[in-house]
Amino acid sequence: MIDSLKPIESDSLLALIALANADARPEKIDVGVGVYRDGEGRTPILRAVKAAELQLWKTQDTKAYLGSAGDKGFVDLLRPIVLGRHADDERILGLQTPGGCGALALGFKLIAVARPDARVLVGTPTWPNHVPVIEAAGLKVERYGYYDRDERRIRFDEMIHRLDGGAPGDVVLLHGCCHNPTGADLDREQWADVARTVAHRGLLPLVDIAYQGLGRGLAEDSAGLHLLLDSCDEVIVAHSCDKNFGLYRDRVGSLFIKTATNAQSRVAMDHLLQGAREMWSMPPDHGAAAVRIILENEDLATDWRNELDEMRARITRVRGRIAAADPRFGYIAKQYGMFSMLPLDMAQVRRLRQEHAIYMADSGRFNVLGMGDESVDRFVAAIVEAMDG
Ligand code: LMR
Repeated sequence: MIDSLKPIESDSLLALIALANADARPEKIDVGVGVYRDGEGRTPILRAVKAAELQLWKTQDTKAYLGSAGDKGFVDLLRPIVLGRHADDERILGLQTPGGCGALALGFKLIAVARPDARVLVGTPTWPNHVPVIEAAGLKVERYGYYDRDERRIRFDEMIHRLDGGAPGDVVLLHGCCHNPTGADLDREQWADVARTVAHRGLLPLVDIAYQGLGRGLAEDSAGLHLLLDSCDEVIVAHSCDKNFGLYRDRVGSLFIKTATNAQSRVAMDHLLQGAREMWSMPPDHGAAAVRIILENEDLATDWRNELDEMRARITRVRGRIAAADPRFGYIAKQYGMFSMLPLDMAQVRRLRQEHAIYMADSGRFNVLGMGDESVDRFVAAIVEAMDG
């Protein structure tokens, strides 16, 4: 039976990781997948994480199951960070998930249970795994243009027009901050417009917020989400600590859901727990336990915030350096988070791979932080050469 399966292409980003890993050229620059690299090109374990892991090792006296909701302390301590002024809203309930991707899959599964024929409005381009996750839940995707790569701007009129044409019960997937793959984030006024339109049309926003703190700052990066929570009775949030705590492989996510009443949210939570039980039974504990220990401890929490600030400052510095190198890259300094897009076609991207050992996504998305400081000039020179042909 298994032999009836047809070959498929693997996820483009995962394929890119494998290609880059297999390239032994010492000058290799891997700006493919979204992991933070420091000035020396390393992805360090954060100081606070190391300290929390040590504490965990010393004090953890059991590995017994915690249950499908995961670590309650972790979820509670995240509330002020993710939900801000809405942290005490009893209509918002949360649970731990395996990474932000687990939260997305669970959120869309819940939507499919509630409304199997729901349409999900997705701005393009978007993270390559969004559409597969939505479709795996059995939901229909409707795309609209979010970003014009050649003009390097958000197609905001088109976005609002599409949302305004939505019907009650349609779902809209929004990037909370650090838009992946474009780095082009909505400003406050645009968020306010989006929140008004979503509420007015009775759409259900699902906010994917996987890079909080790596854009403008922890509070600023959740400001758009808070505007949605101000205006909408129903909101789903898929949050990740994988990037802002540097815990990538430990898969540390959470899902928060708001409905009109606490009773309704409890019903939704029961469905979420059932969905989690079906999909992964219980989330992995280690990373979430480390985050909980950090957030419980004032010194560790301060150190984490400082290190997050350092990461963000590095992002701003590298963006500034690239932008200063050529006037055509000016927009890169005005974008946020790990990614921006270069106006390169697939042939140019492939040539950069072959001739310069530079690995970026076929879409022209590159991880601004993929390279150490000493590689930035070489990266920019190779891009300019590719663009000028
Ligand atoms: C990325 O977009 O590079 C990251 O979100 C990693 C992933 O899972 O694709």
